[in-house]
Amino acid sequence: MNAKALQKLLAPEVAREIRHIHWHDEIDSTNQEAIRKIQSGELDRALIIADCQTHGRGRRGREWISTAAGIYMSLVWPVQGSSAELQGLSLVTALSVKSAMQESGINGLKLKWPNDVLHEGSKLAGILLELQSGSWGLCLVIGIGVNICLDQAAQDKIDRPATGINSIAGSHVDKNAIIAAMLDTLVTNVWRFEADGFGQYQEEWNRSDYFYNKSVIIHRGKSQIRGRSEGVDGSGALILQTANGLELITGGEVFPTVREIAAGS
Ligand code: BTN
Repeated sequence: MNAKALQKLLAPEVAREIRHIHWHDEIDSTNQEAIRKIQSGELDRALIIADCQTHGRGRRGREWISTAAGIYMSLVWPVQGSSAELQGLSLVTALSVKSAMQESGINGLKLKWPNDVLHEGSKLAGILLELQSGSWGLCLVIGIGVNICLDQAAQDKIDRPATGINSIAGSHVDKNAIIAAMLDTLVTNVWRFEADGFGQYQEEWNRSDYFYNKSVIIHRGKSQIRGRSEGVDGSGALILQTANGLELITGGEVFPTVREIAAGS
């Protein structure tokens, strides 16, 4: 597959919007390449995609193992608005990945706040949004990593339960069709988000939430906060019912409580 072939698979209005597609056999990180392009003044909407990454980046400074078969791509998207408003966009990206997968016959997926895509509690896809600012304004890099086939070497390097498309749906899945479906869905949803905000996605996100109504611990830097997850509000913040009342969480990582880990193991 190459850039031209991918362009042909996209919906015409999406193909018109993503002006440049750069497809690499191997790269350090598609997000890093996107940032290099932005910093050198290339501010058009563009897609950077690679068959493998040597230094894939995950959230919270972690590595994203990218040597095995997977989808590694970053969308360059000039934006307006504050970073708080953009929080909703990271949740919208996760919803878009989930619905594109479903369209491609990969079912049973759930989301973990803010933007992990899970299958039976194991991580299938991760999303890393990075905001770049300069005299020209703001530009967002929307990085998406989807595991296709996690070999043992890759599994061994990942410290949490992870899965790949092949384990869920078999090896017949069409990677190119999934990439096109993800881009079509994502771009359409980003347009809707830009027009009307996150509120329109709140219900759908909460229906998809793996931890909805469950006890969780949120790790925020060195502190932790425990409570019952009540889904997200109209801005995409996580609503947590704690011993001291409701708290709105805008950063951190969600874990199940120890009791639930034990029950599920
Ligand atoms: C996470 O930790 O869940 C986020 C993972 C994001 C990985 C993707 S792969 C494509 C893009 N390039 C990177 O270096 N990271 C993102």
